Amino acid sequence: MPDDRLRPHVLLMSEITADGKLTLKRGASSKILMKYMAPETEVLLHETRAACDAIMVGSNTIRIDNSFLTVRYSEGKSPLRVIPSSDAAIPPGANVLKPDAPTVIAVAGTAPAERVAFLRAAGADVLVAGTGRVDLPLLMRRLVEDYGVRRMMVEGGPTLNWHMLHHRLVDEIRLIHLPFIVGGEDTPSLVGGMRIESEDEMIRLSLKAHYLCGTNLVTEYDVVYS
Ligand SMILES: NC(=O)c1ccc[n+]([C@@H]2O[C@H](COP(=O)([O-])OP(=O)(O)OC[C@H]3O[C@@H](n4cnc5c(N)ncnc54)[C@H](OP(=O)(O)O)[C@@H]3O)[C@@H](O)[C@H]2O)c1
Repeated sequence: MPDDRLRPHVLLMSEITADGKLTLKRGASSKILMKYMAPETEVLLHETRAACDAIMVGSNTIRIDNSFLTVRYSEGKSPLRVIPSSDAAIPPGANVLKPDAPTVIAVAGTAPAERVAFLRAAGADVLVAGTGRVDLPLLMRRLVEDYGVRRMMVEGGPTLNWHMLHHRLVDEIRLIHLPFIVGGEDTPSLVGGMRIESEDEMIRLSLKAHYLCGTNLVTEYDVVYS
């Protein structure tokens, strides 16, 4: 009987504006905001990546940001890159398909065979986890069992953040606060898709650290699932 509780320790880390947004507007790359991070905070981000066995972002972040997800501004090895994409829709020019670090694309069983074949030919491991959509708890278990992932970092975007929290798969949150307000009703914020009816459904956090890294405030929380 597979153990659904088997999963890595998960840290969700994000740059965030004072009004809780992750980008300038819907469809914009977060790299525009990241340019304003203090150099010390960029190092912190990359040290955190190096301290993890795997790093995961959603497929839409790959399409919009074309992230590398490698360790470049600190010492250490780049972690395994993990991208859930139910229909294997990773663009051919995606930087995560470059051989700087190993990459796992997690797909659903319904993903088109020709896309899966393309990704395998490009050097990525394709892991089938789920039927119509990537099953995140199953993916977590397979990452532990098949890849030895014990500690994983999630770097967004809001859709993936919400689904990870919804499945109670996030242990810690670390936020890099950027001193800007960008506004926008549909501008991506830390957690997208969440709708609650009462305070009982709030996801509770316990603040465990706050400090300045260069000029950026950093806050760290444990997620407290009731
Ligand atoms: N400031 C920051 O730190 C930061 C970090 C990352 C991203 N961002 C920004 O966030 C924006 C993108 O966020 P987004 O919310 O649109 O997309 P996202 O969270 O990056 O990706 C969501 C996609 O992941 C795929 N996915 C596969 N299985 C899933 C599952 N079980 N649960 C959830 N998602 C699953 C889905 O695509 P399929 O339907 O194809 O499977 C889904 O549409 C960009 O503007 C980016 O710049 C900001």
